[in-house]
Amino acid sequence: MKEKLHNLFNHAVEQLKNVSTVDEFEELRIKYLGKKSELSQVLKDLKNFSQEERASIGKFVNEIKGKMENIFSETIENIKNVEMEKKLKEEVLDITLPGKKIRLGHKNPIQIVLDEIQDIFLNMGFSIEEGPDIDTEYYNFEALNIYKDHPARSEQDTFYIDDTHVLRTHTSTVQIRTMENKKPPIKIISPGRVYRSDALDATHSPVFYQMEGLVVDKDINMAHLKGTLEKFIKTMFGDNIKTKFRAHYFPFTEPSAEMDVSCFVCKGKGCSICKGSGYIEILGCGMVHPDVLERCEINSEEYRGFAFGFGIDRMVMLKYGIEDIRLLYESDLRFLSQF
Ligand code: DAH
Repeated sequence: MKEKLHNLFNHAVEQLKNVSTVDEFEELRIKYLGKKSELSQVLKDLKNFSQEERASIGKFVNEIKGKMENIFSETIENIKNVEMEKKLKEEVLDITLPGKKIRLGHKNPIQIVLDEIQDIFLNMGFSIEEGPDIDTEYYNFEALNIYKDHPARSEQDTFYIDDTHVLRTHTSTVQIRTMENKKPPIKIISPGRVYRSDALDATHSPVFYQMEGLVVDKDINMAHLKGTLEKFIKTMFGDNIKTKFRAHYFPFTEPSAEMDVSCFVCKGKGCSICKGSGYIEILGCGMVHPDVLERCEINSEEYRGFAFGFGIDRMVMLKYGIEDIRLLYESDLRFLSQF
């Protein structure tokens, strides 16, 4: 019996020498110290012995068990130490190595200019409204006095989704949506994508960006319109820029105007960019037509408004001297990384 237990212990010691992982160790631990191990069996069988025998055998078995437990716990200590060392070696961090450069993406120039424009208007107390890219003919045309056979419909080559839905051709849709939902005073801008079925070339893209502006309140007049837009242009392009308002026609404003700014390139002398005129056309604007106000249940006797709209892409191109609109949409990093 004693010899058997001695052998068992020696066996365990031998086998533990070859163990290098926690899994292998665990297998041996169950074999030698687990519930079904020989040692446990011997302890269970003690009841078959007489009182005196039980005392002396029990003492011996417990001694062996103690030695066994010691050697097992020493072994697992070693294994864990070795594993930790290995891990430390593998995960060594050399802070003297040169770092890996992380290439950050950055904003498209359209976004850069849009952020700038939004800041200017937010500082003047405007808030931002959004509208859907797919809208009904009503919001895109009728509500803005552009009826079925109006020439303005054919001027804006429209993508139709179905008989009544279009990809909005301008952001003026948001004027209507805002006036339907909010009562004056209203003071909003609304930037967003617009769509026209134009062929893609250096100055046309079927998708481009516009910004709409709308102010409705009591006693609003054309001076507010001019003052606001001049302030915007001067903040954006510098105090030396001159502005000029030319009478124009839009169905949803009366009176209507276009605003021109003195050419940034030739400073008004006349060049190829401004086609010799010294001025560049930059936006459309006017006093909101009373019919448009009434359609949105705003009393046109009591309230007046002004509105304006312009192409953001055009602003970007003018600001940075970009001559081809396609560059703004091609996502070519050689181009984009210059901004
Ligand atoms: N929606 C017009 C366009 O796309 C631009 C415009 C002109 C907007 C006059 C306005 C405005 O708000 O008052 O050509």
